[in-house]
Amino acid sequence: MTRETGQLGAELHHYLVEHGARPDEVQRDLIAETERLLPERAQMQISPEQGALLTMLAKIGRARFAVEVGTFTGYSALAIARGLTPDGHLLCCDISTEFTEVARRYWERDRIRERIELRLGPASETLRALPEEPEIDLSFIDADKTGYIDYWEQLVPRTRPGGLLTVDNVLAGGRVLDDDETDINAQAIRAFNEHVLRDDRVELTMLPISDGITIARRR
Ligand SMILES: C[S@@+](CC[C@H](N)C(=O)[O-])C[C@H]1O[C@@H](n2cnc3c(N)ncnc32)[C@H](O)[C@@H]1O
Repeated sequence: MTRETGQLGAELHHYLVEHGARPDEVQRDLIAETERLLPERAQMQISPEQGALLTMLAKIGRARFAVEVGTFTGYSALAIARGLTPDGHLLCCDISTEFTEVARRYWERDRIRERIELRLGPASETLRALPEEPEIDLSFIDADKTGYIDYWEQLVPRTRPGGLLTVDNVLAGGRVLDDDETDINAQAIRAFNEHVLRDDRVELTMLPISDGITIARRR
């Protein structure tokens, strides 16, 4: 046994998904349809084990009001909405009608549609328009990487004490290690991780699930 997080090969990853998450028929169909309709973009979808984590965090935190930045075809929104309290509500931010049309169909099918409000437009504008009171129980950031710090700065003050912020792709495929990285998205993630590390308003953990997920708890 080692204390260092190991690399998951394809086989071990398959084992983890098979034994650590139970994507149901709706989720499996959404994965398959995203792959079929948008083969070039399907890797943007969160993984089933991330989905299971988001559902569990929403349930543990008894989340009533959640915000998602970056919805795509709706898998993460479905995962979060399923974990909300019965009177819970999820606000989704995305700019794409094409992607979110798929999401809407699956939310309908899962009978979760009425819990989800989708606002199309740049997330920075949608978040700025939210009330400034700390009412958010859970948020998930998974959109354009260069916007992460702005989304964080909009969401932290609006998160209630004890509420959670979760953020995807914080390992940027390992490119966070490279001081000479020129890719604008990897640079943005590096800057974001430094920003969050210095932020005393939250407690913090980073998990190596998929491309890395940060979970922060508002003090
Ligand atoms: C990585 S995907 C999200 C994946 C999604 N969480 C899932 O589980 O399938 C990123 C999404 O962010 C959206 N996006 C990109 N720039 C945006 C912006 N400025 N404001 C809002 N959404 C944006 C894209 O349209 C895309 O659907």
